[in-house]
Amino acid sequence: MTPEVTGFSKLNKHQKIDWLVANHFQNTEKAKQTLHNYWNANEQLQQLHDEFAENTLSNFYLPFSIAPNFTINNKRYTIPMTIEESSVVAAASNAAKFWNKRGGFKATVINTEKIGQVHFSFSGKKEHLNSFFKSIKSKLIAAITPIEANMKKRGGGLLDIQLRDKTQELANYYQLHCTFETVDAMGANFINTCLEKFAEVLQIEALEYDDFSDAEKNIEIIMSILSNYVPNCVVKAEVSCKVSELPNTENLSSLEYAEKFVRAINIAEKEPYRAVTHNKGIMNGIDAVVIATGNDFRAIEASAHAYAAKNGSYSSLTHAHITNDVFTYYIEIPLAIGTIGGLTSLHPMVKLALELLEKPNAKQLMEIIAVAGLAQNFGAVNSLITTGIQKGHMKMHLLNILNQHHATAEEKQKIVQFFTKNTVTHSEVIKQLALLRA
Ligand code: MEV
Repeated sequence: MTPEVTGFSKLNKHQKIDWLVANHFQNTEKAKQTLHNYWNANEQLQQLHDEFAENTLSNFYLPFSIAPNFTINNKRYTIPMTIEESSVVAAASNAAKFWNKRGGFKATVINTEKIGQVHFSFSGKKEHLNSFFKSIKSKLIAAITPIEANMKKRGGGLLDIQLRDKTQELANYYQLHCTFETVDAMGANFINTCLEKFAEVLQIEALEYDDFSDAEKNIEIIMSILSNYVPNCVVKAEVSCKVSELPNTENLSSLEYAEKFVRAINIAEKEPYRAVTHNKGIMNGIDAVVIATGNDFRAIEASAHAYAAKNGSYSSLTHAHITNDVFTYYIEIPLAIGTIGGLTSLHPMVKLALELLEKPNAKQLMEIIAVAGLAQNFGAVNSLITTGIQKGHMKMHLLNILNQHHATAEEKQKIVQFFTKNTVTHSEVIKQLALLRA
């Protein structure tokens, strides 16, 4: 077993790498070389990246791609996407072009409320706690005045604080359930700072509240933290067209296509096993833009899946219907993102991505991200109900297979050419490579 290391975080980067390779790698020089290969030659830039996290030894690349031709609310966008999965960007670009000819995407932010909670235990009388809360609510609000000043200037701040009785769920459990508007910031730091102030005031005021018994004065704060579940920070993106404008092939008429598409969405609405994969595909598009724009994809993932289960069983985030010969297809998804703060002003690629999107505010970025999710889902469902997913997927995966087998540029070119007319399978690629090399 590797011996426990002490004071590791205080070592410099070279010392950390020496410790790492000595303790974890047979071929120490090769491991070192791999880490070094991904250092940026620009030392200042490297330092910036080193300081994003702790114990940073190197960088980890993800492709930075773009999906052009998106029309959203009658404006043309080129969407930055950071994702390693082949075919995601191609699917998004194809969907963008497809819907361009049919009026483009319409997107609207439904609401933008963020949530934070102070979770605490109180073992006294509920009526006493209610009266206490009413008497100190204005003090709680006043206590965050300095914290809120900047946010208020930008049009945001605290919306409300409610005392919530959760004792049916857990003995003695109460919350301060707080709602916020954080405008163009994701707002996590702002919310958490406000919550910790509320917790402090709650505790201090309880000690001085005359109508509490001595036992009641000791409110126990368990924790103060924002919630990543934001069912009131939701955006809707939609496309629609006449059924007759949908693909019409040898195998499927436009109407059959529309009906099969709606059926596939209905299956994802009703069947959790399908819904998880369906939503995973949506998140291929969502996460790619969330990452490229420097937002927290874990928060987005957590809230999206919680929202997908809001009615008690896990369901689809997209919906579709045919009404009066019009096919309508939409996504509704919570997206707590920001265009200021965090990485947005630090990471040069994030800055570039936001510039590419013409410096959107948070609401505009919510709309763009939701559209990327809908486009992705359209690409996936379209393939699933027509050719099957593997045709396009394997075509895009072809280069990955060739790279795994160290194909030269000439070999790649010949094999890609061969597969323009043949079905890509892993074994067929290996066979063609072997034939070329023989
Ligand atoms: C693969 O990353 C995503 C899909 O499985 C999504 C779907 O099935 O809808 C293709």
